[in-house]
Amino acid sequence: MYKVFSTRRLPADTEAYLRRHVELDIWEEKTRITPEQLVERARDARGLITYGTRIDDEVLSQLPDLQCVSTSSVGYDHFDTEAMLRHGVIGTHTPGVLDETVADLTFALMLATARRVVEMDAVVRTGQWQGKPADWYFGLDVHHRTLGIIGMGRIGEAVARRAKLGFGMDVLYHNRSRKPDVEASLGLTYASFEDLLQRSDFVVLLTPLTEQTRGLMNEEAFRQMKSSAIFVNMSRGMTVDEEALYNALKDGVIRAAGLDVFREEPTPPTNPLLSLNNIVVLPHIGSATRATRDDMAMLAAQNVVAVLEGRVADARVVFELRDLVKGK
Ligand code: DGY
Repeated sequence: MYKVFSTRRLPADTEAYLRRHVELDIWEEKTRITPEQLVERARDARGLITYGTRIDDEVLSQLPDLQCVSTSSVGYDHFDTEAMLRHGVIGTHTPGVLDETVADLTFALMLATARRVVEMDAVVRTGQWQGKPADWYFGLDVHHRTLGIIGMGRIGEAVARRAKLGFGMDVLYHNRSRKPDVEASLGLTYASFEDLLQRSDFVVLLTPLTEQTRGLMNEEAFRQMKSSAIFVNMSRGMTVDEEALYNALKDGVIRAAGLDVFREEPTPPTNPLLSLNNIVVLPHIGSATRATRDDMAMLAAQNVVAVLEGRVADARVVFELRDLVKGK
């Protein structure tokens, strides 16, 4: 049996599935595994199951038996795909099973920022629920406003569907490539990046982190948004210049922001963004429901087993590494 090492504990049914197919070793500690510990524990492993662990040349050179790294996430920016290509290591991820859950949380942030849910919760808890003019409690409508989605993958489609069918919103999107079928089926409008920023009441970022999207939301981008607009980031923290966002929120360049992701995670309590009232922050929990995380773990397990059993076509191989499959 091939050895597979998991850098996290796994749900019981996923663990049982893996034990039927491979020799399984699990990092049981509560602390995140370091690269040194990973290399030590996974030395003779053919497969790895990870969540956010950096996989680069240094790690790969010390794990010569490795054939597959399976991340239990849809994002795989922690993979150095060029190094994986050089080492002939296939990377897999978990698209599809988390789309609706992440779309739900995207709406939670849109609603929480627009209607100031967290701020108002504090008002009630701290005994300030009186003596204020009625308009002090006002927020913004979400329904029938314009939503701009940057990054139209499956999660973008799930957000757009909620926006169109549930909230009667106009939906603009910007993506590397146009999606005429999605435009037609959901009634979306394609827009340039600049046009989307200028016209949207809500700008939701859902792009993967790539060299093209790193720092995409910078001072110039925030300046193009309406001063009444709300920015929501569900992608990766590195897509946003946090200092520019802080200035935009503080100076009223935009109205509010909802963030599920940060440049540094966990973000330190000293992050200046956390001193602002017009922001709602979450600890990267886009896919964090029991049902969805269980599905992601099982898919990650099935991916690594498929690759190790030579059924690579059954695995969700990450885009940049698909060419490797042909040689396997
Ligand atoms: C992913 O799977 O990449 C998400 O960020 C997890 O919440």
